[in-house]
Amino acid sequence: MTHTKIAVIPGDGIGKEVMEEALKVMNSLQEQDLSLQIETTIFPWSSDYYLKHGRMMPSNALDILKEFDAILFGAIGDARVPDDVTVWELIMPIRKSFQQYVNFRPIKSLPGIASPLANGRDIDFVIFRENAEGEYSDSGGRIYHHQSQEMTIQNTIMTRIGIEKIVQAACDYAYKNGKTKITSATKSNAIIHSMKLWDEHARRIVAQSSPALELESIYIDALVAYFVERPQDFQVVVASNLFGDILSDLGSAIVGGLGLSPSANINPEKEFPSMFEPVHGSAPNIAGKGIANPVAQIWSLALLLGHIGRPDIEQIIVSAIEKVLREGVVKTADIGGQATTAQMGDAICQEIIKMNLAARGV
Ligand code: NAI
Ligand code: MG
Repeated sequence: MTHTKIAVIPGDGIGKEVMEEALKVMNSLQEQDLSLQIETTIFPWSSDYYLKHGRMMPSNALDILKEFDAILFGAIGDARVPDDVTVWELIMPIRKSFQQYVNFRPIKSLPGIASPLANGRDIDFVIFRENAEGEYSDSGGRIYHHQSQEMTIQNTIMTRIGIEKIVQAACDYAYKNGKTKITSATKSNAIIHSMKLWDEHARRIVAQSSPALELESIYIDALVAYFVERPQDFQVVVASNLFGDILSDLGSAIVGGLGLSPSANINPEKEFPSMFEPVHGSAPNIAGKGIANPVAQIWSLALLLGHIGRPDIEQIIVSAIEKVLREGVVKTADIGGQATTAQMGDAICQEIIKMNLAARGV
């Protein structure tokens, strides 16, 4: 029996709507005989919380979260609160304080989902995005506010240890999953300090990891073109925080859109809880309508369960998602259907129940 404590932060907009479906799946899993015992605690930390309390989460939020085995996060973002506040007071403190330096994003063609690319079949790779340092740093400042000589400095922080850890995580994944090539996103021809350090240590870590592992370093501008032209060529892509962020939205788009793409913010050492969330944001343009696609959130829950030692249940959820998409009867608007968020969640739950019964020979 696995007893697991999960902190749930639905957040804003469609985050709240898709989270309901993930919780539905979680409850349904628990009702079935899967030896899964999960205790969830829901935290209302969001833009509404900010408007009431003047902060995105309480000052001891990280102490509270530290006691959990994992965090399931929805999305944040609300027009009434500046985006840099929502991001830097909620997501960033969790990712950085909990050393979630791996942002893992699977990019996979799904049955029944058309790629916008003419050659968009059989895409199957993963992105390892550095998640704790790099270009996303609050080091810097601005002087001469609102004067003609106004100026700013925004620093990128890259450390040897940070580069080593993310590249090592990518190599470990490649080794475990029988992959033979790592693609490193770089721009060391123009960003000559930080990206040169990145290249040097990426090369060293991959070489040390396994002689069977090939490293290709590709400039980011060319790499985005290759994602479109020959996406089947990639196996494991490793990238800095900014490059990885952009590559993963592009990756989502070429396999059918943001509504389908999960992500994991992982602390591989398991010293701190890891956090699982869809790639998408709070989608204010469709929030409140009940039409958001819950697949990315439900798939994020699957990654969470895999991380806490239940890859069997992860597989059941992913297979159920694939079955629903392949059949194509229940589809939300973003993937060409008319189903509501709840109908999509229900369909996935039904499929999980069927698969579980079949596996038990019932
Ligand atoms: P977004 O991901 O919220 O939306 C981009 C587009 O994708 C929109 O057209 C939206 O309707 C569509 N979309 C996204 N998720 C969908 C789903 N599950 N089903 C169907 N359609 C979906 O990105 P955007 O518009 O740039 O940002 C909106 C807000 O979200 C901003 O405040 C931003 O800061 C925040 N944001 C938060 C993130 C997070 O919480 N980790 C990540 C990205 C953005
Ligand atoms: Mg992004």
